[in-house]
Amino acid sequence: MRALARTDPGSRWESRLIRSAHPVVARVVDVAVSRRGVVRVPGVGVLVADPRSARRVLTDTDAFAKNGPGSSGALWTPVLGDRVLLNMEGDDHRGLRHTLADLFSPRVVREVCDAAARPIVAGAAARLRVGEEVDVVRLAREVSAAVIGAVVGLDPETPPSVLLEASDAIESMVTWRTRTFDDAAAQRARAALAVVQDAAESAHAAASSATVMGRLAERGAALDDARSLAAALFLTGTGTVSSALPRIVGQLADAGLLEPRAATACRLDDVVAEGLRMTTPSLATLRRVVRPTEIDGVRLRADERVVVLLWWATRRDGGFEPGRPATGDLRHLWFGAGSHFCLGAPLALAELQAMTGMLLELAGEHGLVVTSRRAARRVLVPRYAELTVRCPAANRARARAGSGAGATGARSAGRAA
Ligand code: HEM
Repeated sequence: MRALARTDPGSRWESRLIRSAHPVVARVVDVAVSRRGVVRVPGVGVLVADPRSARRVLTDTDAFAKNGPGSSGALWTPVLGDRVLLNMEGDDHRGLRHTLADLFSPRVVREVCDAAARPIVAGAAARLRVGEEVDVVRLAREVSAAVIGAVVGLDPETPPSVLLEASDAIESMVTWRTRTFDDAAAQRARAALAVVQDAAESAHAAASSATVMGRLAERGAALDDARSLAAALFLTGTGTVSSALPRIVGQLADAGLLEPRAATACRLDDVVAEGLRMTTPSLATLRRVVRPTEIDGVRLRADERVVVLLWWATRRDGGFEPGRPATGDLRHLWFGAGSHFCLGAPLALAELQAMTGMLLELAGEHGLVVTSRRAARRVLVPRYAELTVRCPAANRARARAGSGAGATGARSAGRAA
């Protein structure tokens, strides 16, 4: 039913990324959910791979929780304490989400993106315009790190590599099998997160309304909450965005939408929404059964582990098709559903629109080609290790215009990473 193998090139690349990241798990899951959307796999838990059941698990907080033994939330408790959204439920979670309701308001998102993302995106555009190759994996990693850096109040002069190294260090500590961190691992994770949390602490202390952490302080959020939240935003906001962009670019290329006429006809919002459906960077999320219940004919016992397979739940026939509505149970499912719905969705969309918009604009002017791509192996968040693009016609256009200006001094997207 939801098998990995599909015939269109975009779907095949997506399947390859999932298999390359999780060679064994992807095959086991694929076989398990090929006939039924909900299935129990001994030793793993109950797998949920269809959109209706996935949405039911994520929204039914009486029966399913994200905290407690065996949950993904519990993984972070020894590292970050018990107030990091990801490991909270009930009134505490509702209260903290309420405090953070407009954390990423349209104005904040615009300011953060203008300050942190635009200069990097402009640098990449300048390089493409003079016919250079740009690795969009590096571009997305730099942008997502700079944006999270701006959100947590990191000094803008800090090179993106500092946050990227911290993010890689944390990611390498977590696999599908990781149920909890022992003391030594928790210590290492805390050390990797210190750069983010210390920046957040300084921004919170300065309490300036010009920073996200400062505004939290103004609203009376405790210092510990700001430190924890900064770490949560960092954990959730870097790997997802940097996985998504190159995969969206891969989808555009495979669908022939980087040719000038096709690119011009694309609507940016549609491309990003359909790109997120197709790529669903948060591959899966976990819940714990808190009350015996039943989904799709499968009876669940208290304390069972439920693996909500978001990537599998968002597949549908026909592959990547911008403009095709994703409604009903599928709506925004790549950002989750219910009380834990992605807090950073507006920011993620703005980052992806800034980068995708620049690439579509250039594709509309000159055409854009993918010159090489390689899947990353054995990583937590499936992604490309490299995906380079070029505007083959840009040099010719530049020569015709007789202008060599524009690239000199442009910031090298990805070079610092
Ligand atoms: C394309 C990018 C992104 C995707 C696909 C994504 C996906 C998700 C998903 C599926 C969830 C729900 C997980 C669950 O219910 O267990 C989630 C939660 C969350 N996301 Fe995102 N996310 C993205 C970007 C971001 C960014 C940029 C940030 C922050 C700046 C962020 C912050 C969060 C936070 C804090 C939560 C936890 C909310 C809670 O537990 O109440 N995410 N995200």
